[in-house]
Amino acid sequence: MSLTHPLTLTQYLIEQRRRFPGASGALNALILDVALACKAIARTVAFGRLAPGLDQVGGQRNVQGEVQQPLDVLSNEVFLRRTEWAGHLAGMASEEMAEPYQIPQAWPRGKYLLVFDPLDGSSNIDVNLTVGSIFSILRAPAGVTAGERDVDEADFLQPGAAQVAAGYALYGPSTMFILSVGNGVVGFTLDPNLGEFMLTHPQLQVPEHTREFAINASNSRFWEPPVKRYVDECLAGAAGARGSDFNMRWIASMVAEAHRILMRGGVFLYPRDTRDASRPGRLRLLYEANPIGFIIEQAGGRASTGRHPLLGVRPTALHQRIGLVFGSRAEVERIERYHHEP
Ligand code: AHG
Ligand code: MN
Ligand code: MN
Ligand code: MN
Repeated sequence: MSLTHPLTLTQYLIEQRRRFPGASGALNALILDVALACKAIARTVAFGRLAPGLDQVGGQRNVQGEVQQPLDVLSNEVFLRRTEWAGHLAGMASEEMAEPYQIPQAWPRGKYLLVFDPLDGSSNIDVNLTVGSIFSILRAPAGVTAGERDVDEADFLQPGAAQVAAGYALYGPSTMFILSVGNGVVGFTLDPNLGEFMLTHPQLQVPEHTREFAINASNSRFWEPPVKRYVDECLAGAAGARGSDFNMRWIASMVAEAHRILMRGGVFLYPRDTRDASRPGRLRLLYEANPIGFIIEQAGGRASTGRHPLLGVRPTALHQRIGLVFGSRAEVERIERYHHEP
């Protein structure tokens, strides 16, 4: 279909389901509920300071020790309310909730787990810059699906490779929804007139070669030697070992960095560092690193801890943090190589 009549998200999902004649449609329905949550959050974000209810929530500390912005709390609510009722979920987990969320008894339980960062980059809200929502869909273990027990933390501790689907919504100049159901990566743009996500990017691929990196350089005194070496070589430019000039970007909104890298290549690093022995890295494995890693790998890029493939990591805690490097394959492999060289 031509771009003047692009597929809607619903149509795309129907098309994907045709590949699995026995499929129940539950995954599609769940993804559509997530997309509805994202559209609702996009509207609230677009109202900025004018959004109603903002003065009534927020200000508490979440389990990460961060002060919640009103929109962190509202977005979390929107995710819960839009997805809990339909019978596709056995439980949820989020950056903003210390414990797994149990589906209320009023609703049927289903076979999937939803894990999300309701608003990523929320420190950018007050300055009206791009933020987003990140989500990951996992299968629930059999006992939970059968309704024999509630979900617990251990049910969520699945490696990124086990994700059934993952994606993010981006609340930027336009609202986008980026999705992988394990068959490549597609991008939709919200048509504000129709309120529908339209397939505008049918096959996203991370460009292989790049001369752009993203890292919070104010942490450089805490970096481990391989990271320092990599960045020094980039900074040395054409005269240095890389023989080429590099550009740097830092938005402080990982979802926006991931999107830029998906569109035009680059590498993102929030590496493990020596700042705090109890905090190996800044970003959270289950609802930030894994879904973004899944998208990047499905688009032909690479996601890593700096040392090992990210999607193979076996999580040990719901809010576990991890060193994260992702983007154009050759750069990520180079960074891994530096970590393995004596
Ligand atoms: P969140 O807003 O969900 O808490 O995540 C913020 C994360 C991520 O989006 C970003 O890359 C990083 O924090 C920014 O860290 P610095 O403040 O160290 O730049
Ligand atoms: Mn936060
Ligand atoms: Mn985040
Ligand atoms: Mn967040």
